[in-house]
Formats: sequence, structure tokens, C-alpha cells
Amino acid sequence: MVASVVQLTQVTKKIGSKTLVDGLTFEVRPGEVFGFLGPNGAGKTTTIRMMVGLMSISAGDIRIREFSVGRQFEQAMRHVGAIVENPEFYGFMTGYQNLIHFARMLPNVDKERIDEVIRLVRLENRIHDKVKTYSLGMRQRLGVAQAILHRPSVLILDEPTNGLDPEGIRELRDYLRMLAKDEGLAVIVSSHLLSEMELMCDRVAIIQNGRLLDVRSFKEAAGGAEQLEVRFEVSDQASASAVLLEAGCETRTNGSELSVQVPDRRETVAALNARLVAAGIAVYSIRTVTKTLEEQFLEVTRGNRIV
Ligand SMILES: Nc1ncnc2c1ncn2[C@@H]1O[C@H](COP(=O)(O)OP(=O)(O)OP(=O)(O)O)[C@@H](O)[C@H]1O
Ligand SMILES: [Mg+2]
Repeated sequence: MVASVVQLTQVTKKIGSKTLVDGLTFEVRPGEVFGFLGPNGAGKTTTIRMMVGLMSISAGDIRIREFSVGRQFEQAMRHVGAIVENPEFYGFMTGYQNLIHFARMLPNVDKERIDEVIRLVRLENRIHDKVKTYSLGMRQRLGVAQAILHRPSVLILDEPTNGLDPEGIRELRDYLRMLAKDEGLAVIVSSHLLSEMELMCDRVAIIQNGRLLDVRSFKEAAGGAEQLEVRFEVSDQASASAVLLEAGCETRTNGSELSVQVPDRRETVAALNARLVAAGIAVYSIRTVTKTLEEQFLEVTRGNRIV
């Protein structure tokens, strides 16, 4: 098991009588793209601001590698690269000149490293153009290049897909994944859109009203669900229902279909079908219903209203 790079323990933020973030606990591992998913006002930006030291932590602790953000701020920040607000660049200078300018303020960043980050964010072809001629996506790449110049262990981006078109989002995903893989970076991105997180992340923390509802791995969520919903369309719902109950499956009527929850194994479906046929029931159709991530997300957040 790989040690975590970022570890939040009971992180809480209070301003006045209001609790913006409430006891968040989770960890992020090296080489993964980790999503921070929640509706507007959930507390994503607040948490990120605490992670990068732009806001104090009311209670709990955030560790970046072995350093506490509260108690060993400078050491912790040495391992963090982030874009929280829009990165500021000099538009009249080229991307390359901007990077040189930032690199002067950092120890141990030489020309080779600058060329390396330009390649990593795939900005080679435009790096010698003036920044004022860059598109939004290109500015963001330059921001990421700047954020990783000092070889951080974690890269944090607040809502990086804002304003990008689908192609831009796909490219962002590709190069963030490559950064995670090639540099062993932990990448943390926030978004209020599940569909975007699905494209980009290995795992997501779902937060709402400042609380952690769940941490999910997309691979598990997509394929490894232990229960499967199967729907049978049959000639006689009442008899079929009795046969399925005898086989240990409770049924629900869903329009013209009978719905059962079964363990996720194809053999179970075949066995149930054989029983129905043996009981003289005609089976017109069988289909398995895979829950989309959207449905799973709504299921997890159901009952929690945005305030
Ligand atoms: N400085 C502040 N003082 C008081 N309340 C604040 C402050 N900053 C944020 N909040 C409140 O904290 C809650 C969480 O805000 P935050 O910006 O962290 O949400 P978010 O998840 O980033 O939302 P969005 O998707 O809209 O960016 C909101 O209710 C917000 O109004
Ligand atoms: Mg925000």
C-alpha cells in the first residue's frame, strides 16, 4: 500500500457561527487523480484554500507528505503546486519568458526543468508566443506548468474545467493523467459536475454542506457493484414472483417487468431464468439495469439539500 501524499483528518472550518467545512477526513495517494465533487457552496474551494494555506484551519489537520499545514507550513507548501484563483501572467511576454520569470523566484529550477514542464503540459508549439494571444486552455496549461516547476508532490486545481470545451476537458484529463503517472504526482481537482469527474478522476470524494458523504473509486462504481438489478418480462407476473421468491429473490413490479436484485453474477441470472421456464412461465425478455454514476451520485446525495 502506497503511503498517502495528502491526508485530511477531521478538517473543520468555522467562520462566526457558520460551519463551512465539517470534519473532513480522507487521503490522496501519489499517482492518482482525485476529484473533489459537490454542488455549489459545498465547501470545495474552502477546503482547497485551507490545503494551500490561503485560509486557516479551525480544527483538525492537513498533512502534505509528513508535514502539517498548520504547524510546518513552509515545509508542507514546498510540496504543493496549485492554481486556486486565475494565474496571473504578463500578457506582453511569451509563455517561456513568464516561466523564466517565475523560475527565478524558485530554488533548483534550471532551464532543463522549464523545458520539461513545457513538454509535460504539451505547450511546445506556442510557448514562444505572447501570452495575450493564448486561449483559455493554453493559459491554463501555462498555469499548470508554473505550478509544477518546483516539482511538488501534489497539484491542486480548483474547478479546472471551467470554461473549457469538451475537447479541452479531454486534453486536460490526458495531461493531468500523464503528470500523475510520469511525475508520480497526486492531482486534486474540484468540480460540481459528475460527468467531468468521471472523465478525469480515479477516485472522488463527494461533499455536501461541508461534509464528506462518500469516497468512491470510479472503477469500482462502474463495474464492481455487488448487487445487480435484473428485470424479467414474463407471461404471468404473480406466478413468476412466487417462483423467484422461492429462489430467494424478492421482486418489485416495474410496469410490464418484474425487478429483482441479485448478486452480480451472470450464472444467477441464467439460473433464475431456468426456474421460471421450468415452472411453465414464458420469459419474453431479461435485462440487467446498470446504474449510471449519475444515479449513484444522486442516490448518495439524496436527502441532502443544498443550503
Ligand atoms: N469568507 C467566507 N465567509 C463566510 N462564508 C463563506 C466564506 N467563504 C465561503 N463561504 C461560504 O461557505 C460555503 C462553501 O463555499 P465554497 O466556496 O467553499 O463552496 P464551493 O464548493 O467551492 O462552491 P462552488 O461550486 O460554487 O465553487 C458557502 O456557503 C459560502 O457561502
Ligand atoms: Mg468553489
